[in-house]
Amino acid sequence: MDLRQLEAEPTAEEREAIDARLGDDPARDGTHFAAGFGRSRRHLLLPALQAAQARVGFISEGAFGYVCKRLEVPPADAHGVATFYALLSLEPRPPRVLHVCDDIACRCRGANELIADLERTTGDENGAAWLRSPCLGLCDQAPAAFLTVAGQSPAERLFGPVTAEQARAALAGDTLPEMRRQRLPQAGGPSLRLLKRVGVVDPGSLDDYLAHGGYLALRRAFELGAEGVIREVLDSKLTGRGGAAFPTGRKWEAVARQPARPRYLICNADESEPGTFKDRVLMEGDPFAVVESMTICAYATGCEQGFVYVRGEYPLAVERLQGAIDAARARGLLGGDLMGRGVRFDVEIRKGAGAYICGEETAIFNSIEGFRGEPRNKPPFPVESGLFGKPTVVNNVETLVNVLGIVLEGGAAYARIGTPQSTGPKLFCVCGCVERPGVYEVAFGATLRDLLALAGGVAGDRKPQAILLGGAAGAFVRGDELDIPLTFEGARAAGVTLGSGVVMVFDDSVDLPSVLLRIAAFFRDESCGQCVPCRVGTVRQEEALLRIVTGRPRGSTTAELALLDEIGRAMKDASICGLGQTAYGAIESAARRLRLFEEGKLR
Ligand SMILES: Cc1cc2nc3c(=O)[nH]c(=O)nc-3n(C[C@H](O)[C@H](O)[C@H](O)COP(=O)(O)O)c2cc1C
Ligand code: SF4
Ligand code: FES
Repeated sequence: MDLRQLEAEPTAEEREAIDARLGDDPARDGTHFAAGFGRSRRHLLLPALQAAQARVGFISEGAFGYVCKRLEVPPADAHGVATFYALLSLEPRPPRVLHVCDDIACRCRGANELIADLERTTGDENGAAWLRSPCLGLCDQAPAAFLTVAGQSPAERLFGPVTAEQARAALAGDTLPEMRRQRLPQAGGPSLRLLKRVGVVDPGSLDDYLAHGGYLALRRAFELGAEGVIREVLDSKLTGRGGAAFPTGRKWEAVARQPARPRYLICNADESEPGTFKDRVLMEGDPFAVVESMTICAYATGCEQGFVYVRGEYPLAVERLQGAIDAARARGLLGGDLMGRGVRFDVEIRKGAGAYICGEETAIFNSIEGFRGEPRNKPPFPVESGLFGKPTVVNNVETLVNVLGIVLEGGAAYARIGTPQSTGPKLFCVCGCVERPGVYEVAFGATLRDLLALAGGVAGDRKPQAILLGGAAGAFVRGDELDIPLTFEGARAAGVTLGSGVVMVFDDSVDLPSVLLRIAAFFRDESCGQCVPCRVGTVRQEEALLRIVTGRPRGSTTAELALLDEIGRAMKDASICGLGQTAYGAIESAARRLRLFEEGKLR
């Protein structure tokens, strides 16, 4: 593609797909309260590119040039954006693409064998291709796959557990694989708070949601008033469930105090941390709860426009959320006059396109604004200057859903759940070598042992070798450290982190060095490349690890380990964002805590 001279025209179907997406701009038809957009339509760049690719399978030169022209974005600039996202392709691709997960939880459940089979048995299929993928957020139904079919409806399917036969059938286009069933080990459990409606309520019916207590919390919020809601959230001591554990009430208070308008709310549903799938379960199973809790947050903080930024590999979550948004709007529960109270708030979904870094809160701003999803320097913090330079609340899906109970029961009552420093219920994504992988809700304070018991223990009665807490950005503990309490303070005391709630179990048959190599490759792939410590450090880290694991160190293993430490320290101290700062955590814990690289430990 010669970016200085884009001469190709889009085909009629590409033009139609792009026009439909660009015409469908809520900022223009009055349902979108986003004055901060100004006159620029650049924020539609990613949706327009996604629309073109969904129609024909890739972004052709004609489609690319047409999008650039319509949005007045220089082609060189737009090229930088299009090439940033793994799910977008500027190269011709067949219409049918199967993304097969080869990440660590799926490897515990046969992903390597599945991929070896596909390598053996598939060749140049007509109109189809398969690619390896990082974690698809379906680790409870591993091994997982994500199918995209250009020009069809539905155009995307996430499914699992997938067999080689099913993968070949999906590639051949004989049938679209059946949508998987939700795996909900605790469905209908009496003590559930966050998951109480999941698997019980009809996610497509607003009436059913209302019959199960829906929208009582918003009513109560209006009675409390905006300041009253924030007071309850402060009293609850709720902390963010997206990984950073920041106090939610303080964030809301800070946005509510800002003089600038408009203010924005982003529900962070990017969920791409390997091993994490709790937000998917909430969005698919109880989508109205996400919309209602966003509405309460918006009311309390004075945000008039909300976005749900959902990872691109979650088509069912997108479909159900869109259904919930449309139904809520049709009944006056979103729009210009919520419940007749004169309050305005509306929500738009934005889909990610295969970039882990876009879960970082400031990277989301750039992604929605139509730029590469690169994190911004902080300060300024999002509460002052976030999306479109305006005050912005960013909260994780699970954090927001907690607010429903807080508003209904009161912050003080909520704070009595869990421990004094880690209040409330918590969702954990238990996966890997366990009998019943899934999302489990427990009160903070349960131990690893309790959680493992809920999940039926290690599969096949094997011994736990190690447990990865917090995902790739987290750390390993040994298989005999099951009494660690799953609280922020308990994790801190044990020198680990809960992160986004991943509990990934590896039994004694798993080859941990290959798991570490996969984690190192993940960070190397996902680094946005903006800052040197992370861009170079993640590459050097992978190289050093590979030398140690293959037994071909340049000097001694001790010297390689010292080098790994040095690289890790540089990434931690000097990286712009959490990706670089955490990229060494799991490897360091394997070296220190599991003593994996000591004499005789490497197989
Ligand atoms: C590389 C990276 C990826 C992240 N991915 C997510 C994510 O997928 N979902 C999420 O809620 N937070 C994610 N975060 C954390 C967000 O930056 C932010 O702290 C969070 O969305 C705030 O919401 P909370 O306070 O409700 O947790 C990520 C952070 C980093 C550094
Ligand atoms: S730490 Fe890594 S991911 Fe974060 S801004 Fe720097 S290069 Fe990008
Ligand atoms: S879906 Fe494969 S590791 Fe998560």
